[in-house]
Amino acid sequence: MSEMKPSSSFTLTDNRSGQTYDLPLLDGTVGPSVVDIRKFYADTGCFTYDPGFTSTASCESKITYIDGDVGILRYRGYEIADLAEHSDFMEVCYLLLYGELPNVAQKDKFVHDITYHTMVHEQMHKFIEGFRRDSHPMAVMVGVVGALSAFYHDSLDISNPHHRMVASFRMIAKMPTIAAWAYKYSIGQPFIYPRNDLSFAEDFLHMMYATPCEPYVPSPVLARAMDRILTLHADHEQNASTSTVRIAGSSGANPFACIAAGIACLWGPAHGGANEAVLDMLEQIGTKDKIPEFLKRAKDKDDPFRLMGFGHRVYKNYDPRAKVMQKTCHEVLDELGKRDEPLLELAMELERIALEDPYFVQKKLYPNVDFYSGIIFRAMGIPTSMFTVLFAVARTVGWVAQWNEMVEDPSQKIGRPRQLYVGDDARKYVPLKARA
Ligand code: CMC
Repeated sequence: MSEMKPSSSFTLTDNRSGQTYDLPLLDGTVGPSVVDIRKFYADTGCFTYDPGFTSTASCESKITYIDGDVGILRYRGYEIADLAEHSDFMEVCYLLLYGELPNVAQKDKFVHDITYHTMVHEQMHKFIEGFRRDSHPMAVMVGVVGALSAFYHDSLDISNPHHRMVASFRMIAKMPTIAAWAYKYSIGQPFIYPRNDLSFAEDFLHMMYATPCEPYVPSPVLARAMDRILTLHADHEQNASTSTVRIAGSSGANPFACIAAGIACLWGPAHGGANEAVLDMLEQIGTKDKIPEFLKRAKDKDDPFRLMGFGHRVYKNYDPRAKVMQKTCHEVLDELGKRDEPLLELAMELERIALEDPYFVQKKLYPNVDFYSGIIFRAMGIPTSMFTVLFAVARTVGWVAQWNEMVEDPSQKIGRPRQLYVGDDARKYVPLKARA
């Protein structure tokens, strides 16, 4: 962290002693200021308490900006809708890693470098074959990505910028190969090698759907949709998995191990698993006439049912990614001749009714990115067990960019939160035979 000059201060009074403390206020480019509490414990003898980090900025970052009240998401200052419409995933990767959109020559070189890292070590076959056939693909991802550190010793020195960049390229490039192989293994089909003449998104679809007997020719609409989904999920500021990657990396752990930790965190249903839950919910609702009944349940405090794909910890407005996702959903269903897909019609009607309902309006519950993505994935023939894997493929660049930023931050320290201890105070030790 650069040594920023405080813009003002925040005065806090300890009501026990009447002592006041002036806490420096730091301003970012945009967004809320932060109260700098780095010396708080030394000055006051107190810790701050913030389970879930809902009010805590854990780092300084130049990568992604979110204003959840307005519904803004920007990568390096560029609106997500502009990037989804006019750029492609490779440009977005370059932008997240280097801070600028590439020119033509820079893009060509970057695409070339990523493409030529897509193959994985040949022994990975055997490694993946060691898993049970019915393993969840996310279990394979956690294991195999962590194991990359055992295969690529020449990019593990995190103090060496060249090693860091090679490791970053390797992870971005190899993730689709590993993801597609995890899928192929689960359905008992041979692994399909990457093809250097295809784009990143086309290559992923090729490795998922081609077989040695038949090539897969991805339609431009589906490849574009996949590319856009990757762009929309590429980064999202200090979310749970990204914070996990940063914390793991703060101890000096190697980048492959850190990304494996991020994948493990993403696996949880409160983070990466919600689009699967949206599909389950739409199937449970079944028909449009049942919507009021389910909305009533979602509003009932005594009923655990929630409208999946609605609401967000940060967005208290329409998730800007959901808007792009809805448009992409229509394009994909048109391309596949599934324009009348009942789940889409049901989803749109549910969205329309919920957005007019005072409960959802007052609580600022809007559709999030997951509301439409499950419908797109299902239409493309992607099994539900692969939904979170796709999220991991897309988010890898965000994790890698955030990890690099952390390693390069001179004020970086090992992440070590404190606690409010509520267990027993000191107790006298009782020998085993004397215990009741
Ligand atoms: N349906 C019905 N009521 C809801 C919903 C919902 N989907 N979401 C929030 N609420 C209510 C909640 O009951 C609470 O009401 P009250 O104030 O009366 O107790 C209020 O809105 C605030 O909810 P919260 O749980 O305190 O808010 P949160 O910020 O902790 O939770 C959330 C955010 C995403 C976990 C939650 O909105 C939710 O469970 N949504 C459904 C699951 C979902 O779609 N998750 C995907 C998130 S986007 C993926 C990503 O970016 O990783």
